[in-house]
This record gives sequence, C-alpha cells and structure tokens, in this order.
Amino acid sequence: MLVGLRGVGKTVLLNRIAQIAEDDGYTATVIEAPEGKSLPELLIPCLRKILFQLDTKEKVTVAVKRGMMVLKSFAKAVKVTVGEVEIGLDIDAEKGTGDSGDLDTDLADLFEVIGAAAKARNTAVAIIIDELQYIKETEFSALIMAVHRISQKQLPLIVIGAGLPQLVGLAGKAKSYAERLFDYPEVDALNEKDAASALKEPAKREGVDWQPQALKLAVQLTRGYPYFLQEWGYHSWNAAKDGSGKITTRDVRAASDAARSNLDDSFFRVRFDRVSPREKDYMFAMAALGPGAHRSGDIATELGVPVESVAPVRSSLIKKGMVYSPAHGDTAFTVPMFNEYLIRIGR
Ligand SMILES: Nc1ncnc2c1ncn2[C@@H]1O[C@H](COP(=O)(O)OP(=O)(O)OP(=O)(O)O)[C@@H](O)[C@H]1O
Ligand SMILES: [Mg+2]
Repeated sequence: MLVGLRGVGKTVLLNRIAQIAEDDGYTATVIEAPEGKSLPELLIPCLRKILFQLDTKEKVTVAVKRGMMVLKSFAKAVKVTVGEVEIGLDIDAEKGTGDSGDLDTDLADLFEVIGAAAKARNTAVAIIIDELQYIKETEFSALIMAVHRISQKQLPLIVIGAGLPQLVGLAGKAKSYAERLFDYPEVDALNEKDAASALKEPAKREGVDWQPQALKLAVQLTRGYPYFLQEWGYHSWNAAKDGSGKITTRDVRAASDAARSNLDDSFFRVRFDRVSPREKDYMFAMAALGPGAHRSGDIATELGVPVESVAPVRSSLIKKGMVYSPAHGDTAFTVPMFNEYLIRIGR
C-alpha cells in the first residue's frame, strides 16, 4: 500500500509495478477507486477480465470455470447490474459460494476461487487499486479479510494499492491483519540529489546542461515534489534559449511564473473546485495559520467558532481527500503547497 500526498508519483509507480508483474508472467490489472463507487462494482468487471485472460490460453479448466461461476453468484448477491449481460458468462452461478450477502466472506470466497484458478493456470494474479482512500471502511476491511484468506491458502493472488495518508486509518477494525498483510511504504518528495538528477538526466540526454545554480534553484522552488519538478522542468526547458545548450537561473525564474499559473489553473484548481463554501473557509483558515499541520482548536479559533461546530467540515474534507490527519488532532493538506496557492488566490 503506497501512501503519499498528491502528485508524489503513486500512480506512476503502480503502473510501473503492473508492467513488472506482467513481464514476470502475472495477469495484472490496474483499477482506480473513484469516489462513490462500491468495491464490488469496481472489482467485478476487473475480475471478469482476469478470468477471461486466464481462460484464453487453452480450453477452460475446471478451476477457471468455477471462478466464473462464483463471480456470477457474487455479482448476483451484491446486485451489481453489470450482472447477467455484461458478465456474459454462459455459465450458471454457483449457489452457496460468494453469495451469502456478507461482503467479508463473499469476497474472500471469490478471491479464493480466482487464486485457485490462477494456480491451476500456473500463473499469478495482481490486483492493483489506485486511490484506495475512497473505499468505504467496511469494504476495505472485506478486502483485507479476502487477502488474509489468500495468504492462509497460499494462493498466487496479490493486492497492491496506493492512496492518500488517510488510507492507513481505514484499516480500522481489521487492523491486526492489515498490519501483517500489507506494507505501507511512504512515497514522498525526492531528496535533493534525486530531484536534481530528475531534472538533469533527461536534459543531458538531449545535449542540454543545467547550470548548477539553476538546478539548485529549481530543486528549491519545487521542494523535490515530482509533479512540480515536472512543471518547472518543462517550463525551464521552454524558457531556455534555443541552441544555447544551457538552462540558467534566468530561465528558471522565467519558468516560475508560467509553472505556477499552470499549476494554479489545473493541479490546485481542480481540487479547490470540489469543495463547498464552508469547506473553503476551513481551508483558508488553515492557510492563514501558515505551512504544515495545525491543531483543530487553532483552526476553529482562526475561524472564530467552537471546535465541535467545524468537526463535520473537517471530516468531510478528509473524506474528499483534501486534508488528512498526520497525528491525532492535527490537520494538514494532502496537496503539497496548497496553503501557498490559497494565499495567492485570496478569499
Ligand atoms: N518516476 C517519475 N519520473 C518522472 N516523472 C514522475 C515520476 N513520478 C512522478 N512523476 C511526475 O509527477 C506526476 C504525478 O505523479 P502521479 O500522478 O503518479 O502522482 P500521484 O501520487 O498518483 O498523485 P495523486 O495523488 O494526485 O494521484 C506525474 O504525472 C509526473 O509528471
Ligand atoms: Mg494518482
């Protein structure tokens, strides 16, 4: 479970992981958990695809066929309407497996038959889920139980996920399992050396050098955040004089305006547009308190209201993935440098 703020490279990493898995002979699939879609809705089409992939090699084996039957009964039980038509399996649902209506056991049943199908095919399945923080707590817990079953039965199925830091708290009641079953590597800004080489190396391949001071400035301005490095790199490249073969501090300064206004219009803006006026007030209060995490009490004081009255606003901002709680009672933005953006646009 890759955990990190917005724009640090989680999706890039998941896609790379999927590639590595496929190169290693896995049947891999990457899905994104959008807000407001249930886990079964998300999984059914993707598991169906996996079963068909397991199926294409030769004739259907018993294990793969069983996987399809159980997927069908699972889809019926959760009443997902991709059901009959889209599942398109010319097969009867298997009664009594994956259809109890209890997601914990049903999903575990389903993963088990799919793991068994993969095993029968001498392959492994990788289910890769992005934006996992948007999954409901009960569903996340069912996912953990299902992975637990797979590990007990030693079947070749793996779940890899990524999401914002709130993901870790979701493990909730299935916590003791979750800690054993998953690693939570943190994906963060790059250190100075890596950030510098992310800018330098691609330019070098094109015969262009970054002047050391220019490189230093770009790394400083982006604070090593991958998404920002990409923007500053792009605009610095464009600002550099054709044919000079060099990117200078002047180019980086010229690039800064373009990079910032581009970020303001896209990266920051799309996030800002998704929240209500009350939520905006809350975020402006956070920004007014300066960078970093802030105590709920301080934010309420800044707003001039009692802390309990804004607790629901905070929760809903966490659900929307705008803020998270780095420590109990603390709140910080999930988007790097969002405080500076808010101050720039003003209320
Ligand atoms: N290894 C990399 N090499 C080059 N660019 C990268 C790399 N990792 C990240 N980036 C740049 O950072 C951008 C953001 O990466 P990515 O979309 O993977 O972030 P994320 O963590 O998934 O963010 P979000 O939480 O907003 O989905 C990429 O579009 C790319 O420009
Ligand atoms: Mg992403």
